[in-house]
Amino acid sequence: MLITGASSGIGEGLAHEFARRGYGLAIAARRLERLEALAPRLLAAGAVQVVTIALDVANTDAIEPAVQRAAAELGRLDVIVANAGVGPLTPTGRGKLPLMRETLNINLVGAIATIEAALPIFRAQGSGHVVGVTSVAGSKGLPGFAAYSASKAGLHRYLQSLRAELRGTRVVVTELAPGFIDTDLNRNKGARPFLIDVDKGAAIMARMIERQVGKRWVPVLPWTIIALLLKILPASVLAPRQKRS
Ligand SMILES: NC(=O)c1ccc[n+]([C@@H]2O[C@H](COP(=O)([O-])OP(=O)(O)OC[C@H]3O[C@@H](n4cnc5c(N)ncnc54)[C@H](OP(=O)(O)O)[C@@H]3O)[C@@H](O)[C@H]2O)c1
Repeated sequence: MLITGASSGIGEGLAHEFARRGYGLAIAARRLERLEALAPRLLAAGAVQVVTIALDVANTDAIEPAVQRAAAELGRLDVIVANAGVGPLTPTGRGKLPLMRETLNINLVGAIATIEAALPIFRAQGSGHVVGVTSVAGSKGLPGFAAYSASKAGLHRYLQSLRAELRGTRVVVTELAPGFIDTDLNRNKGARPFLIDVDKGAAIMARMIERQVGKRWVPVLPWTIIALLLKILPASVLAPRQKRS
């Protein structure tokens, strides 16, 4: 299993969950020193092998060699978890285009490139499991987070197309769309309704990955209901009306 964005938050939590289950793990992120500190803890928890890979998914040229290396060092690649992501505030019309582009490059292009690099390996093996981490923000454009919302909506659509194309094969696709899980990504960025801690979030997501659930909101309740409501309610319910100037 290769997990991107494993140096903190949900990715680190998932690495612990799958270490306990005895998986061989490749963990990737930009902060190699954090991955190297994590590796012995994962081995102690039960991982059969841990490969650490320095990877910036904004640099798409670096992704394929990293995925190939993970597969080569682990012997095979059964699961790819495209989890790396950022969630900066990018209010519209305020000169945030560079930050918006970076967000789309990491969360959307980076995740797609990660999955694209794994698919030929899965095809050659005859099986594999793609896991994409989207968000409730992908179901409605959240005020202040236009680029983040767009990136997650885009990844959701990519995963839908992928699942449709792979129907009838032994390569399966799982999309996990969390609500609010307590990590660096969302601290000090406003309200976090129905927040759960990262250990709980990772435990739920690991079970969903093992069960190959297709698409799920995380946790299922209340987010399945909230996501349905968000489809019919206007985005303005999520924020006070902005002053026009
Ligand atoms: N927390 C939530 O409530 C929530 C809700 C919905 C969806 N999500 C999604 O869950 C995923 C994980 O986020 P998190 O909440 O666990 O946040 P986090 O604690 O900030 O973790 C983000 C991870 O992504 C990595 N990352 C960021 N940019 C990267 C890049 N350019 N290349 C490679 N790795 C990169 C970070 O590692 P380095 O900085 O070391 O590279 C870190 O390991 C994200 O896709 C996020 O959108 C989170």
